[in-house]
Amino acid sequence: MNNKALEKKWILIAIIGGVFLMAAFLLTFTKGYKIFNEDEDPVVGSIQEENVKQEEGAQESNEERDNVDNATNNPVDNEGATDLPQDKEEPSIEEDIPSLAETFKDYFPIGAAIEPSYTTGLIAELYKKHVNMLVAENAMKPESLQPKEGNFRWGPADRIVQFAKENGMELRFHTLVWHNQTPDWFFKDEEGKPMVEETDPKKREENKKLLLKRLEEHIRAVVSRYKDDIKSWDVVNEVVDPSGPNGMRNSPWYQITGTEYIEVAFRVAREVGGPDIKLYINDYGTDDPVKRDILYKLVKELLEKGVPIDGVGHQTHIDIYGPPIERIIESMKKFAELGLDNIITELDMSIYSWNNRSDYGENIPDYILTLQAKRYQELFEALKENKDIVSAVVFWGISDKYSWLNGFPVQRTNAPLLFDRNFHAKPAFWAIVDPSRLAQ
Ligand code: GLA
Repeated sequence: MNNKALEKKWILIAIIGGVFLMAAFLLTFTKGYKIFNEDEDPVVGSIQEENVKQEEGAQESNEERDNVDNATNNPVDNEGATDLPQDKEEPSIEEDIPSLAETFKDYFPIGAAIEPSYTTGLIAELYKKHVNMLVAENAMKPESLQPKEGNFRWGPADRIVQFAKENGMELRFHTLVWHNQTPDWFFKDEEGKPMVEETDPKKREENKKLLLKRLEEHIRAVVSRYKDDIKSWDVVNEVVDPSGPNGMRNSPWYQITGTEYIEVAFRVAREVGGPDIKLYINDYGTDDPVKRDILYKLVKELLEKGVPIDGVGHQTHIDIYGPPIERIIESMKKFAELGLDNIITELDMSIYSWNNRSDYGENIPDYILTLQAKRYQELFEALKENKDIVSAVVFWGISDKYSWLNGFPVQRTNAPLLFDRNFHAKPAFWAIVDPSRLAQ
């Protein structure tokens, strides 16, 4: 082959190679683009769709939540949360920013859920600076206070009470009665057999008496211990379930006593705590019109029977896509018409929609945090306008580092609160404290 022919051959090879490379590039690019568009970005053009899905799936979401609650409520899950790799900054308390509690002092107290271990160290300083109300995230639930029958364990709960007192904070109690995080011994007969399995009517009646006696003893012990330090009490938690019998949650409590356990719980709490403590029925999804109306009917009937209920606790575990803020307010207005108080008891705002299981990992997009900020702003504007029917707003935690939502419904990075993993104020904080700082 002479030189010319050789040159021609190389040019041909280069052209073929170039075409091949270009084709490979185009294929990869279009595939990648498609994947990105279909699976990754939940916001662009799909917020409305998400809202619709949310409405349709609310029921399913609730069921799913009920099934896994026990597993995810373990505080160890929260403590397992780690800093994100991109968090180059050190955790610190921003001393020069406004205090949340101070900002809202003319409207309502600002609360947050706390674990006993957060009463020391840097995280304790974050609580001290920003909130004037505390609620135990887990330490006052039945399994924490009375793990074995007659064997009360007060230490962890006392630590929270002491911390609140030392720092001039109010307290809420959560919760005297629940179907989760309640030890099995409550629901076993004298022989150790699960009461729900009993078929003999006579024995079922005896079981009911025994269970109500245990309930009464638990409430007597707990309320008499804390009545002077805690004024606001979640008496029962999550007793309504639109898919359950008569709209009631089909828990062992309900299967064994019907709705009597609710009446007994409120009456005993009032008897022991006196007229000064405020008693709440607490639930999630109270904005959902179907669930709200069942709860409304139940509360109305109980009030007519003289059951001492002072207010409704609205958990308000919401997300950046829904529910509409007006629905949250409408629900509170409805209960206010019954003469009841309202408290936002467990506020947080997931950055994922309810049915989404993806994980932003270390890269939470800015537009997601902006969307969250806008919704928090809208919510707080509405709450301020309705301050006469809302007596407190309590967050379920304080820093994204320690939120139950990092472990529910799957292990992932969530960011539902106002302070990030370094305890620094997020856009959502500024949105409710000073929106003019957001644009910068
Ligand atoms: C429910 C309970 C809370 C807490 C949260 C999730 O809302 O009322 O006590 O367990 O679930 O952590």
